[in-house]
Amino acid sequence: MTDLNAFVTGLPKAELHLHIEGSLEPEQMFAFARRNKVEIPFASVEDLRGAYEFSKLQDFLDIYYQGANVLCTEADFHDLALAYFDRAAADNVVHAEIFFDPQTHTARGIPFQVVADGLLAGMSSAQTKHGLTSKLILCFLRHLDEDDAFATLKVAEPWLDRIAGVGLDSSELGHPPSKFEKVFTAAGDMGLLRVAHAGEEGPPEYVYEALDRLHIDRLDHGNRSLEDTVLTARLAREAMTLTVCPLSNLKLCVVDGIAAHPIERMLRAGLRATVNSDDPAYFGGYVNDNYRALIGMDGLDVRDFAMLARNSFLGSFLPDDAVTAHLATLDTYVRDFMA
Ligand code: HPA
Ligand code: ZN
Repeated sequence: MTDLNAFVTGLPKAELHLHIEGSLEPEQMFAFARRNKVEIPFASVEDLRGAYEFSKLQDFLDIYYQGANVLCTEADFHDLALAYFDRAAADNVVHAEIFFDPQTHTARGIPFQVVADGLLAGMSSAQTKHGLTSKLILCFLRHLDEDDAFATLKVAEPWLDRIAGVGLDSSELGHPPSKFEKVFTAAGDMGLLRVAHAGEEGPPEYVYEALDRLHIDRLDHGNRSLEDTVLTARLAREAMTLTVCPLSNLKLCVVDGIAAHPIERMLRAGLRATVNSDDPAYFGGYVNDNYRALIGMDGLDVRDFAMLARNSFLGSFLPDDAVTAHLATLDTYVRDFMA
């Protein structure tokens, strides 16, 4: 019998859905609070962890934005990013495309430059230390208005040669993708790739809007697409990558339990699903924990796990030659493991 645990652990993979602010571990939050003399309304790490009980996306977002208040200096953003990359490398992540939320920081007086240069330095450290490559995706907060997103894109202009694309995150319900049609068009005209969270809590209609009005290159979450067979068939036909986050879905009650997770249905429908950690410090695990959470699900076998990792490279924004090289390494790993 195949040891699926060992198989997924060693599997080379890319991570495509990771909010860097969501990798802020409680211990690190306290350390940054101390070094920056920022107050946090929790007495201890245990107290803080105890607050991580969510019944919906907004419960999590309230505490996630509060946590981000401890991030103040370039060194903080560097250290935050490198700590994530250290964990990712330990999970055999060889490439990561990470989100950041500049508005969370600029709104409290931290300049865009501090955030971007700190994260870029962390990415460079990860390349040197682990050979791990990465890309940066600037997310607009959808609970804010489109003018604020435009202002953010403007401030980011000097860094756009080092930013792969734009994304859309935060409170989904009541903030449909169409609200950001103009700024996504502007970003596309600047040569940026486009992704958006849609169909996590929002209806299939939001996924249609992300496709038809934001012209996304990749769909973040996308779970609720399955409610619409026409949409599901279209996503399969267009080889749209879905960045699925099993433990996030569990913690935010997007699914009724891990056994009810739709990942197997996604694969059987021909969707290019991938496995990701979203906000690992808040949702109980990094990328391998997310793969492991799926082991034992009815119908998922070793080929499916290999396919999920394969999809992570196919869905990445790496150039074709790099994708081909990663797939060759993956195929060798699978062949050796089976031998
Ligand atoms: N959904 C929406 N916004 C987010 C998330 C998420 O899972 N994580 C961080 N911001
Ligand atoms: Zn997310």
